[in-house]
Amino acid sequence: MKARIGIIGTGWVGTSVAFSTLLAGHARELWLHDLRIDVAEGEALDLADGAAFYPRCEVKAVPLAQMREADIVVLAAGRNGRADESRLDLLRDNARIAAGVGRSLTGFGGIVIVVTNPVDVLTRVVRSASGLPPERVIGTGTLLDTARLRQRLAVKLGVATQSVHVQMVGEHGDTSVPLWSGARVGGVPLRDWPGWQPQDEATLAQEVRRAAYEVIKRKGATNHAIGLVTAELLGCIVNDERRLLPVCRVQDDGVALSLPALVGAAGAVAVTAPAMDRAERAALVTSSDVLDRAFGTLAA
Ligand code: 2OP
Repeated sequence: MKARIGIIGTGWVGTSVAFSTLLAGHARELWLHDLRIDVAEGEALDLADGAAFYPRCEVKAVPLAQMREADIVVLAAGRNGRADESRLDLLRDNARIAAGVGRSLTGFGGIVIVVTNPVDVLTRVVRSASGLPPERVIGTGTLLDTARLRQRLAVKLGVATQSVHVQMVGEHGDTSVPLWSGARVGGVPLRDWPGWQPQDEATLAQEVRRAAYEVIKRKGATNHAIGLVTAELLGCIVNDERRLLPVCRVQDDGVALSLPALVGAAGAVAVTAPAMDRAERAALVTSSDVLDRAFGTLAA
């Protein structure tokens, strides 16, 4: 199956999502929207010019109202952070945009993917503004943190990224929680891996949490990794893959954060409770509190 995929916001991130999605062949139509109409049109023309090099897909710029006709809408609009700003610093500016998009999608029959930061709080904003069920408003969340951790572990251990099984949960970014206790490399618990040192955990976790700031300091934004992550998530939905992925959604307690959920055509359903040790559980509670407080500031 291939879907009609709409992307709202054609800045750094939205265009990388578009590019990765086209190459992956998940869309039969790719619709782009931006407040800067010329930019969305220019990006659509540019991407359409490359049609000989990706599976068949029609790319065009559309008005915001047309997004309601899409199967999946990706929210990538908003201000991006400076190297000295946390994701939560972007909250006020981007919450306004997310709430507007959410309201415009009231009664929408498809799935919304939130990419704009702070992704966890904005997933909750879009969910409440749209009134859509929680499984159909999915934030990319710690799928990116997980990818970053797997990449770094793979390099450190000298194995392929695909052989490293570990997840990060909680907030995307500053308080994200690596689940070391369940990490496996080729079936071997990471903590039993020859040469693995307990102090490696703090160092790697910090490296992953700082990863975006290091990129932003140098080039002004992150876009390629999040583009690939979003395309992967889109593929899971379009192909009803039912993979367990650490993605963000509003959880039973009302807070939006990442836990492994079964992702397929119905959205992010059946959230699982991964095994956690005491420290991991406490870190997840901290992460949840940070996000709940941040959402609370919006009402003030
Ligand atoms: C990232 O982690 C900035 O959230 C974005 O790359």
